[in-house]
Amino acid sequence: MKGRHERAKKGWTGVAGGGGLLPLFVLIVLKTDFLPQVARLGDTGFTKVADEMVMKVSSFDSVVGAPVPLTSSSDEMRDHVDASKDSNQPSQFLAMNGSKDSRLINSDVAAPRSNLTCNFSSGTMDTCTMEGDIRIHGRTAMVYVVASSDYRAENATTVIRPYPRKWEQATMERVRKITIRSTAPGATDIIPLRCTVTRDMPAVVFSTGGYSVNFFHTMNDIIIPLYIMAREFGGHVQLLAANYDHKWTAKYQSMLAVLSMYPVVDLDTDAAVRCFPVALVGVQSHKVLGINPALTRNGYTMPGFLDFLRSAYSLQRHEVTPVSRSTGQRPRLVLVLRRKSRALTNEAEVVAAVTELGFEVVVAGPEDVSDVGRFAAVVNSCDVMVGVHGAGLTNMVFLPHNGTVVQIIPWGGMKWPCWYDYGEPVPAMGLRYVEYEVTANETTLKDRYPRDHPVFTDPISIHRQGFNHLWSTFLNGQNVTLDIHRFKGVMQQVYLSVTAA
Ligand SMILES: *[C@@H]1O[C@H](CO)[C@@H](O)[C@H](O)[C@H]1NC(C)=O
Ligand SMILES: *[C@@H]1O[C@H](CO)[C@@H](O)[C@H](O)[C@H]1NC(C)=O
Ligand SMILES: *[C@@H]1O[C@H](CO)[C@@H](O)[C@H](O)[C@H]1NC(C)=O
Ligand SMILES: *[C@@H]1O[C@H](CO)[C@@H](O)[C@H](O)[C@H]1NC(C)=O
Ligand SMILES: *[C@@H]1O[C@H](CO)[C@@H](O)[C@H](O)[C@H]1NC(C)=O
Ligand SMILES: *[C@@H]1O[C@H](CO)[C@@H](O)[C@H](O)[C@H]1NC(C)=O
Ligand SMILES: *[C@@H]1O[C@H](CO)[C@@H](O)[C@H](O)[C@H]1NC(C)=O
Repeated sequence: MKGRHERAKKGWTGVAGGGGLLPLFVLIVLKTDFLPQVARLGDTGFTKVADEMVMKVSSFDSVVGAPVPLTSSSDEMRDHVDASKDSNQPSQFLAMNGSKDSRLINSDVAAPRSNLTCNFSSGTMDTCTMEGDIRIHGRTAMVYVVASSDYRAENATTVIRPYPRKWEQATMERVRKITIRSTAPGATDIIPLRCTVTRDMPAVVFSTGGYSVNFFHTMNDIIIPLYIMAREFGGHVQLLAANYDHKWTAKYQSMLAVLSMYPVVDLDTDAAVRCFPVALVGVQSHKVLGINPALTRNGYTMPGFLDFLRSAYSLQRHEVTPVSRSTGQRPRLVLVLRRKSRALTNEAEVVAAVTELGFEVVVAGPEDVSDVGRFAAVVNSCDVMVGVHGAGLTNMVFLPHNGTVVQIIPWGGMKWPCWYDYGEPVPAMGLRYVEYEVTANETTLKDRYPRDHPVFTDPISIHRQGFNHLWSTFLNGQNVTLDIHRFKGVMQQVYLSVTAA
């Protein structure tokens, strides 16, 4: 579906309601710990931009400085030096050969000692790798490659946005630009910034901008790409985040701490000049919730990534072992619920039905999934995850090996795009995938549209009216009332597949 490439995000606007009454036969109900911003924004792989969202996410604009033009006048230069005084930095910013201050001139820049390779060929991301004498000044979003053997005057300056959704212009506009500036070996017209912090480890520059409020995007656009870029350094790597979001880094600290043993640097406000022998600017994303081992330096795979998650969250179960039916043990099933759209209107009956089949059911609403570590442990204790298409299904990454994912596909010709996000990636994670596509009888759309409306007779014609229309009609515009008999038939098969006689 083409709409895929027009994805954008929208905050939920519906009022919270219903869903609060859970039946007595729910064996386990998670305690709630409601985080409004997570519940409002935690959504789906289908995303859509609303203006208020853009405003929210782009608030960083006010704190970042503009990149320093290398040809700036000495007045502008002084302003920059002054601006850094409060953070107790020496006057080490760019000096021209006209500078009276000879302390600024490094005498060791004559020989080529750095190299820079960029790859702009992917439709998903731009990445640059550099080695040698690399100096990063966060506040101006400048990365200097000093005495570059690859120096060419015509492309001495390269600008990239370190977020892997290059095809989504609206998203990328919210991601801070990083300017990579090479200097020629022996250049005397440009004297690089002096290092205030020198590290012997590689640096990885990424962004927590984009859609990091959404768990699908957090994993797909940031964590998997960081794993691809940084895992090989065994924690000895400095992560530097543009569009730095303190809440985000705090929330995902467990994963970040396994990738790097050092706190993430807030690139937006950082006044230091940090020097590294190696830097990777921009992160790689290969496919939805996946990794292409051939494109990684160490042949990384999704099972390896899942092991990384298990270690980050100390998850105990590595794999599912079939539960014996004769001993009366019950396989555990986590039902991931949505509340404002694509909600299950007959949640209680659904829970009753799968309980009756023999599952031990864990019900998880948006408020339960917001504590990642706690929910990861819950998911890991389960054999099966069930949910209507949405970002909550991303939590499948915490299932043990051989677990089963059941995606309920809402009405509206949504089979392919839903599979693309949460079906196609599943086997490579070592999990099993089952799909349940709702019929026209199982959607609340039937309360709003007559049966002879194109919503029912030709849903694809709604897709053709554009992504906004598809979004508001089929993703935001319906709840699901499962046909219990039909659903039970599918879940009976799942039950048999995860149990043994
Ligand atoms: C550049 O990236 C593309 C797409 O990710 C990849 O296929 C290609 O091999 C890369 N080129 C180099 C020289 O690494
Ligand atoms: C880049 O420079 C480093 C040392 O600074 C060197 O070890 C490496 O081989 C160089 N890489 C390329 C592709 O020239
Ligand atoms: C600069 O241009 C050269 C030649 O076109 C190219 O090989 C090199 O990759 C470019 N470097 C960057 C950083 O864009
Ligand atoms: C710096 O030096 C170069 C070469 O010596 C000269 O062409 C250039 O005009 C000088 N720039 C300044 C700002 O003095
Ligand atoms: C995964 O499940 C299938 C079917 O139950 C079983 O044949 C296989 O041995 C399981 N694999 C692992 C690693 O548990
Ligand atoms: C949908 O409901 C109608 C009326 O209740 C019924 O006639 C029809 O068979 C149902 N269709 C499916 C696919 O269940
Ligand atoms: C779906 O259900 C929720 C909760 O009951 C409700 O707030 C929302 O308006 C419903 N949406 C649609 C499209 O029916």
